Amino acid sequence: MKKIAVLTSGGDAPGMNPCIRAVVRTADYHKVEVYGVGEGFRGLVGGDFRLLNVRDVGGILQRGGTVLRTARLPEFTEKRNQVQALRELNERGVEGLIVIGGDGSMRGAHALAARGFQVIGIPGSIDNDMFGTAMSLGVDTAMNTIMEAVDKLRDTASSHQRAFLVETMGRSSGYLALMAGVICGAEMILIPENDIELDLIARTIGEAYARGKTHAILIVAEGAKHKCHDLAAYLDSEQVGFTTRVTTLGHVQRGGSPSAFDRMLATRMGVFAVEQLIAGESDQMVGLLENSMRMTPLEEVASKKKSANLDYLKMAVRLAR
Ligand code: F6P
Repeated sequence: MKKIAVLTSGGDAPGMNPCIRAVVRTADYHKVEVYGVGEGFRGLVGGDFRLLNVRDVGGILQRGGTVLRTARLPEFTEKRNQVQALRELNERGVEGLIVIGGDGSMRGAHALAARGFQVIGIPGSIDNDMFGTAMSLGVDTAMNTIMEAVDKLRDTASSHQRAFLVETMGRSSGYLALMAGVICGAEMILIPENDIELDLIARTIGEAYARGKTHAILIVAEGAKHKCHDLAAYLDSEQVGFTTRVTTLGHVQRGGSPSAFDRMLATRMGVFAVEQLIAGESDQMVGLLENSMRMTPLEEVASKKKSANLDYLKMAVRLAR
């Protein structure tokens, strides 16, 4: 193998940059050239390729976002776009591709592999909803960002005896909210995977007030059935004791310097992915399973969802006293 390409696609995630660095430098070690593709599958179809040398990826290990930039291209499901992408790769003599991104990106990667191109995926998405890996790039950093924010909100919440409803990202996955609820000592965690009736929410928060708690934190996943503002209005109308405030953390969760964990994971995944490509592997995604680098067929990754571990919910409920 003489030339490979790497792209980042979908929502950016902290850890993408150290992963790109690991890919380029591992490939260089094996005397393989690397093209960086700009803006994900859009750049692949549009021919946005640039050779990257070891110096080009200097100083990016600690940077959030992705220096290759990213995009979402739903139209990549169309045959004409896939064929055009293969044409761009073949014209440049590229023999293998590494796709760093979320589940949609893995579907794109699988489509190219199904057309006979050698492709390896790397999971990068703060949502941590991808099958085939315990952790995706960016999740740990996002959790740390949420934790810092909620710690600060708790200071002001207890000063005013308020209930704060904090909305976390995650699309249809409750993973970030669930973990954040445990590590931030939330009174309640609302996730799409577990419906809670409104009256139970009001009762739980009212009881926390009656027990003399100075604050209440409710972590609400963006995909949860009840939305923060509606819920705050409901709690106010039920006069639960606390006054309410809503904070939507939003895209701040996607930014920032990757944590130590994310840098290590990104580096391990980047090195492993290149070695697997060189060894002739294809149509698989690298994942962290039982603390080792393992491969899972892209077809499985694309078709299965990782389910939330509701034991964490039980744990949080028992500790919210
Ligand atoms: O998939 C990552 C993610 O941050 C989700 O948690 C969120 O729902 C979505 O992307 C937001 O997308 P955009 O950046 O396009 O607003």
